[in-house]
Amino acid sequence: MSQKSTLELIQARRPRWALDPEVYNSDTVYQDDLRHIWYASWIFAGHTFELKKPGSYLTLQIGDCPVVVVRDSDGEIRAYHNACQHRGHRICTQERGNAARLVCPYHRWTYDYKGQLVFAPNMGEGFNTQDFSLRPVHVGVTSSYIYVCVADQAPDFSAFARDVEPFIAPHQPEKMKVAHMTTAVEQGNWKLVFENNRECYHCDSNHPELLRSYQENNAVAGLDGDEDPELQAFLERCEQAGLPSRLVIDADGQYRMTRIPLSHGASSYTMDGLPAVKNHRLDDSGLDNIGALLYFHYPNTWNHWMGDHAVSFQMLPLDKNRTQLVTKWLVPEDAVEGVDYDLQHLTHVWEMTNAQDAALVGECQIGTQSPGYRPGPYSEIEENGVCQFVDWYCQTMQRKLEGLIAVA
Ligand SMILES: [Fe+2]
Repeated sequence: MSQKSTLELIQARRPRWALDPEVYNSDTVYQDDLRHIWYASWIFAGHTFELKKPGSYLTLQIGDCPVVVVRDSDGEIRAYHNACQHRGHRICTQERGNAARLVCPYHRWTYDYKGQLVFAPNMGEGFNTQDFSLRPVHVGVTSSYIYVCVADQAPDFSAFARDVEPFIAPHQPEKMKVAHMTTAVEQGNWKLVFENNRECYHCDSNHPELLRSYQENNAVAGLDGDEDPELQAFLERCEQAGLPSRLVIDADGQYRMTRIPLSHGASSYTMDGLPAVKNHRLDDSGLDNIGALLYFHYPNTWNHWMGDHAVSFQMLPLDKNRTQLVTKWLVPEDAVEGVDYDLQHLTHVWEMTNAQDAALVGECQIGTQSPGYRPGPYSEIEENGVCQFVDWYCQTMQRKLEGLIAVA
């Protein structure tokens, strides 16, 4: 049991060193993470093209908050706390589906897409359906990405939407479909999952498939200069062709977009470096190779958009040492499997990379519980991305936790 509060653990941290292991193992820190980050931030829920018709819905679990996201009859995306206002049963119990009404399977209380209770059998004379609407959840939509926020008052979404939209829009995100999706449970705290994502120091020894097309460039970490002339020439070429590419990073460090060239002449994350999708392009830049547009938004998504397909990642915490990772391979909506793309060719690199990363995260979780573990320093050359994530996490938590003390 930790003797220190979350704030004390964060205040005691040594800059550019790994965090105190309690930060990954304490129940108190996990509950503070939920309260101050997961319940307070915009969380990536899914893509608009996954909800094509009125009544199409998807569900997600954000800590203790089950949420349902549904397209209404007007085409608007809406979200609700997925709990019946009668006895609390989840209304939509499947991961996704299509429903003419949102019907609680327990006693058939029935809600419309706007969250109004329209039917509740045998409740008697004095019962008024208008008193029992579903509790709404905030929705923000940008470039096919549906974000939700369960806070009473959501933080501003417009600045992020304004920044990310020019990067994604040239890839025609509304004209995509999910070609393949995997759901994995990593045996590690959510912060270990994102830390692992934010560095490629581990790539040489763990990711032979990824390294066929990916190269780490420290400029994309958001902390270094990007003087590399080859990178500059690539960025210039893409920008001239109408593809925003130069790094944009949020003042608070919560999100970042940047385009990178891939390695070995590759134009996609495939074993042979060739596009996974033939006969279709996401962009109309006229360039053969636009590298990969990288975009993350803390705490729960990172993304890669290439010229032929995209891969989105959604992370959700299950408990303090288990994290769900949903990966979606996105292709143009009219691309045909077996004709325009082969699923194995499309998914192999990230299937392998995800499995390798999951193993690494699981081992870190075990090791950080060891009484013999002492946090070590981050590489000055290779782990600036991890530093950037940890700085964002600590500054965000410190601001919130100190704010609580100031109010008290
Ligand atoms: Fe990795």
